[in-house]
Amino acid sequence: IKKELVPGDLAGYKFLITAGPTREPLDEVRFLSNHSSGRMGYKAAERAIYRGAEVTLVSGPTDLEAPAGCSNYSVEKAEEMHEICSQVFPDMDAAILAAAVSDFKPANFISGKIKKNDRPGLELSLEPNPDILNSLREMKKPGQKIIGFAAEAENILVRGRDKYEKKAPDMLFVNDISAKNTGFKSENNEGYLIGQNFEEKITERSKAMIADILLDRIKELF
Ligand code: CTP
Ligand code: CA
Repeated sequence: IKKELVPGDLAGYKFLITAGPTREPLDEVRFLSNHSSGRMGYKAAERAIYRGAEVTLVSGPTDLEAPAGCSNYSVEKAEEMHEICSQVFPDMDAAILAAAVSDFKPANFISGKIKKNDRPGLELSLEPNPDILNSLREMKKPGQKIIGFAAEAENILVRGRDKYEKKAPDMLFVNDISAKNTGFKSENNEGYLIGQNFEEKITERSKAMIADILLDRIKELF
């Protein structure tokens, strides 16, 4: 018996997905970063590919392997992530911005290694990084969709709504980083999906299942 090959339900769609942390160098051996594991973005990439989409993954350093079948860019600094995202976004149907981008970077890069010598302490001066979501939103063409993530430590629904209003993505998934089994490093996640005229509570489940729900909702937006 021959089985027909059925195209995935996202065949023909192109997704840009950001994932993982960024690293902002202080000197040649040190950096500022965060605890993002990259799992949510990588799962979104994996599920989108499985469902037939063309995926461009732009990722900061993680322990994960990029899913087979995607165009994969590895970056360190937010500025590098920003540059690649700006280049590829015009050709995309949607951007899923799951990266935990460092909001600030050291204002001065010290070549070599900062020495402790006779320093009583060390003051770091930081300056803002580009906001990739805001910048893609500004270059967005009709029909393109942007999905943001927000990891909040308290009042997650209130803060999520506020961030949705301020950053104006097409959808925002907000999750609670203080929850025990979910968030940053864990296998599972839960939270709220906020969009225009809707809010959906998503109870605890695997990041792959969360990714599928997100992809379902994005498909409805197209
Ligand atoms: N984001 C981004 N570029 C940045 C910062 C954030 O693309 N420089 C994206 C994230 O990938 C996420 C969304 O914006 O999809 C929200 O990120 P978050 O850090 O929660 O919000 P901020 O606007 O940075 O606000 P704050 O950290 O002060 O809560
Ligand atoms: Ca931030």
